[in-house]
Amino acid sequence: MVFHDVLIIGGGLAGLRAAIEASKNGLNVAVISKVYPVRSHSVAAQGGINAALKSNDNWEDHAYDTVKGSDYLGDQDAIEIMCKEAPEDIRELERMGAVFSRDADGDIAQRPFGGAGFPRTCYLADRTGHGLLHLMFEQIRKYEVTVYPEWFVTDLIVEDNIARGAIALEMLTGRFHRLHAGALIMATGGYGRVFGITTNALTNTGDGMGLALRAGAPLMDMEFVQFHPTTLKRTGILITEAARGEGGYLLNSKGERFMKSYAPNAMELASRDVVSRAEQTEINEGRDINGCVYLDLRHLGREKILERLPQIRDISISFAGVDPIEEPIPIRPGMHYSMGGIMTDKDGKTPVEGLFAAGESACVSVHGANRLGGNSLLETIVFGRRAGQSVTEYCSGSKVAAFPKSALQDATRKAAMIFERDAGVKSSELLERVNSAMMECCGVFRTEEKMKEGLDRVRAVREDLPKVTLTDKGNVFNMELAGVYELEHIVDLAESILLGAIHRKESRGSHTRLEYPKRDDKDWMKHTLIYKDGPEMRIDHKDVTVTRFEPKERKY
Ligand code: FUM
Repeated sequence: MVFHDVLIIGGGLAGLRAAIEASKNGLNVAVISKVYPVRSHSVAAQGGINAALKSNDNWEDHAYDTVKGSDYLGDQDAIEIMCKEAPEDIRELERMGAVFSRDADGDIAQRPFGGAGFPRTCYLADRTGHGLLHLMFEQIRKYEVTVYPEWFVTDLIVEDNIARGAIALEMLTGRFHRLHAGALIMATGGYGRVFGITTNALTNTGDGMGLALRAGAPLMDMEFVQFHPTTLKRTGILITEAARGEGGYLLNSKGERFMKSYAPNAMELASRDVVSRAEQTEINEGRDINGCVYLDLRHLGREKILERLPQIRDISISFAGVDPIEEPIPIRPGMHYSMGGIMTDKDGKTPVEGLFAAGESACVSVHGANRLGGNSLLETIVFGRRAGQSVTEYCSGSKVAAFPKSALQDATRKAAMIFERDAGVKSSELLERVNSAMMECCGVFRTEEKMKEGLDRVRAVREDLPKVTLTDKGNVFNMELAGVYELEHIVDLAESILLGAIHRKESRGSHTRLEYPKRDDKDWMKHTLIYKDGPEMRIDHKDVTVTRFEPKERKY
């Protein structure tokens, strides 16, 4: 059995940033990831990372935009930390070697993004996550962090509410391993694959949230699911908000810039929930083009598109057969981001001792009911660093808890049972049932009746989980086996989302209920918590922290 002071589960930006910090502080750090770290989904982030860098901008305005964007559900103390610490974190990324795009004066260039009162999104063309993830990976090499690439964590080991390590499946060999640790940091990203149409990678199955939930940590604000306004027809691939930041228009089938009816001031750069609702309304009311609306970039001109949005052009040509220099891009809202996640404090701590979380798998909460574009990469860097600092304090003060002997046996026995089953149902069929239930019953617009139907459908899938069988009975890279564990998380997360969404009887940010069209600050200025006690899920609440911005009507 190996031992590390800190085991970080997830090799994306939050995990690697935490690893750098903890390692700098002298801890023995390991990162375990089901994909090679540079293939983590952070690599797909396109548009940029926010920070108030300019002398005529300031972190308080960034905080205000973020609070307003969150529809006043974000915790303002956490938002203040993020916005205040952002400029120094960006400068640090620059010192590490991030190749930010530059403006005419040679400073870090910044572009407008939705819901922001100032152009404060720093970027590397439209490949910001790609550049930053490779940078972080180089850094963890320098700090000699141990990496377990293509190892899949099947169980967190928590006893007496103290985290002790994990059990992981080495994909190459099919062997299970015990990883004993002084502390764990969950940094596994989002759960986009709970939904059928998503910008998220196939790997985004919310494993960290599922593992933490079962280990006793609550999930917070799971009902808030972000639908990005511009995802490509058919595939749901992300077409960055930067396309609108650079001046792209949205058009309906009549050729109208319909955002003038929904957000007359901000137009296409209203916050994402507002733009997605507008698009879905146009589609539902028949002003669509085959279930889509158009994103028109033609007026930006060839030179600007090639310089600022090269990847968007490639994606549009390869996956929709449309060259945005010549034609508008067919797009529609698609699931993009989980505002909810593992409840943490501002230093990444969860209520389970020695269990920390950061990035999209965590809910600090800086995004509340709706995240602003460009604040996700920022959250990974600021709160990844902070989790790395606070895990250092935890490890210096605590005794290492023992690793239970039976854990490995339990994990191998479960896998053996899955292998032995002969007749049953394929996990891909069950996944498809969850995906369609969530798309049909818990999308941009929600009703009690449909969400209850969704819950029944997801619970029916849960009943079928013990019947899952494998067609691949081999040990080497058995992705079908990994898919069974992923599916278990997907079912837990789908149920958490639906329970939270049925429970919250108001409309706020991304959560739009047709029977309760208004935000209700009197009864619902509170976070939703989901606990899993055995097979049952339980709902609780937590107050929202308001520091300087009292809730008011949100207009764009
Ligand atoms: O549209 C985008 O480039 C996405 C950015 C984000 O989600 O922060």
